Amino acid sequence: MDEVLVSGALTLGSVTERFERAFAARHGCEHGVAVSSGTAGLEIILRTIGVEGRSVVVPANTFFATAAAVLHAGGTPRFADVDASTFALSPDSVAELLDTTCAAVLLVHIGGVVSPAVEKLDRLCEQHGVVLLEDAAHAHGAGFDGRPAGSFGRAAGFSFYPTKVMTSGEGGMIVTNDADLAAEARLYRDQGKAGFLGGDHVRLGSAWRMSELHAAVGEVQLARLEEFLAVRRHAGRRYDEGLGGATGITSVQLAPGTEPNHYKYLAMLAPGIDRAEFKRRLREDHGVGMSGEVYAAPLHRQPVFGAISHGPLPVSEEVCARHVCLPVHSDIADEEIDQVVAGVRQVAAELVTE
Ligand SMILES: Cc1ncc(COP(=O)(O)O)c(C=O)c1O
Repeated sequence: MDEVLVSGALTLGSVTERFERAFAARHGCEHGVAVSSGTAGLEIILRTIGVEGRSVVVPANTFFATAAAVLHAGGTPRFADVDASTFALSPDSVAELLDTTCAAVLLVHIGGVVSPAVEKLDRLCEQHGVVLLEDAAHAHGAGFDGRPAGSFGRAAGFSFYPTKVMTSGEGGMIVTNDADLAAEARLYRDQGKAGFLGGDHVRLGSAWRMSELHAAVGEVQLARLEEFLAVRRHAGRRYDEGLGGATGITSVQLAPGTEPNHYKYLAMLAPGIDRAEFKRRLREDHGVGMSGEVYAAPLHRQPVFGAISHGPLPVSEEVCARHVCLPVHSDIADEEIDQVVAGVRQVAAELVTE
């Protein structure tokens, strides 16, 4: 912060460049483009590949911004269904939507889980001449089979919103191995200007820059990412063990090769258990506040997307309705995890038998 303030360069300076290089390298990519938010990153990526008048496949169970970015970039989101074991796009559901209007498939690593289906989705996209992109807003440091999130698609967008595994206060990062896409993204993030100091606007960009102060926070957080991941992964293993054999709740079992960051720890309540009641009892009887869902309602149920046509999306409906996210953060202690496990086991068992 001091370095930035003394330099007088408060945006698009050397700290941002350092942060971009380090973040991209950690995620297996050559280029990083820091932006003002994860949402801006997604819109920029979609603008660089050109989705105007085209469709983009997104999962039904994602954050509002995934689909909204498609609309802001001039495209139409098409909602595909997901696999219950990963909460991520199901290749079969995606295949049904890959028609000639489709420009891209936007894979979301929900909860910081990179689906083993990522390679199948990649092949499917290639066969249809469609671009695979990643919404990696949840996936800092996550991976599959030794390959980091962010390195599977043509480009990926990360978020540094305060609740994420690492933050910059607000902010986002585009990572890619495509030098042309990175250069285009740099134009878009700074009002579509041909150069930092010039007055020629060559793209319909916006004020999507990251300030140097935010980049300074991001750089320090990135230096601590492995430490944060170690705590979160330890919590994940302790929850796995603690919830084994529980009644009324089952952890989502991840496939071998999955390297989650445990942005969220996902578990499914037994059919019929009222999630609101489960959370109320945990809070009131056990002092446990649960984490927010990813997501409580699928996007096709959101009023703002009501006009978008879609087929049946039964798995998205099911996972949205029945999952819970156990508390995880980068300072969580074993005693806290054990308190959660004891409460969760008791309340789930009570509700299943009531
Ligand atoms: C899946 C997903 N995509 C995109 C975003 C947007 O990121 P931001 O809040 O940084 O704009 C978020 C987060 O908040 C998210 O969870």
